[in-house]
Amino acid sequence: MLTIALPKGRLGEKAYDVLAKAGFDCPSVKEPNRKLIFENEEKQVRYFWVKPSDVHIYVEKGAADIGVVGKDILLEYEPEVYELLDLAMGKCRMAVAAPGEFYDDGMKTLRVATKFVNIASSYYAGLGREIDIIKLNGSIEIAPIVGLSDVIVDIVETGRTLKENGLKLREEILPISARLIANKASFKFKNNQIEHLKENIKLNLNDDDTLRR
Ligand code: PRP
Repeated sequence: MLTIALPKGRLGEKAYDVLAKAGFDCPSVKEPNRKLIFENEEKQVRYFWVKPSDVHIYVEKGAADIGVVGKDILLEYEPEVYELLDLAMGKCRMAVAAPGEFYDDGMKTLRVATKFVNIASSYYAGLGREIDIIKLNGSIEIAPIVGLSDVIVDIVETGRTLKENGLKLREEILPISARLIANKASFKFKNNQIEHLKENIKLNLNDDDTLRR
C-alpha cells in the first residue's frame, strides 16, 4: 500500500488529478464529505488530506510515503525527505512587499513580518541588511498597514491580495511551485511503486500542458 499525503485545498485537488492519471486513482477522494482518509485496495493506494504546512511532517516521519508540498515549505523547514519532482503547478513567488509610500533608507533595522522566518532571514542576511522578524501565522498583509512592520515577506500568486490592501511588490525572492516528496525509507523499500508513479507523472506532465497551470 502506498500512502500519499495531499495538501487540503485547490492545489491538493489538482495534485490528486495528476496522481490519479498516473495510475493511482481512488475515486472516493472526490466524494463530497468530510472524510480525511481514503483507500483504493485495488490500486494499493491510500490518501490523506492534511494542512499544506503539515504534509512534510507526515512524510518525514513515515506516516505517508509520499506527499505534495510547496517549495516554500521545503525551504522554510528543510525536512529530511527526498524531493522527487517539480509538479509545475501551484506556481507563485516568495516576495517582499510594502505600502506604496514606504522608502527604506537603510538607516534603521527593518521590521519584517512573515510566516517564513528562515527564508526571510537568509534573504536579508544575504543582503547584509539588519532586520527584526515578526512571526505571524496568516493575513500577513495587515502588518505594515497597521504599523506592526515595515515590509512583509510572503507568497504572491495573482498579486490581488497586495493590490486590494494597498501594498506593492518590492523584490522577488524566489519562484515557488509544488513538489512531489518521498519519505527516505519508503523510497528505498517501495522504490518500484514510487519510481513507477514518478515516471508516469513525468510522462503526463509532458503530454498534457493543461495540468501544469
Ligand atoms: C496566500 C498569501 C497571500 C495570498 C496571495 O495566503 O499569504 O495572502 O495567498 O495570493 P494572491 O497574490 O493571489 O492574492 P493564504 O490564502 O495562503 O492565507 P494566509 O497566508 O493568510 O494564511
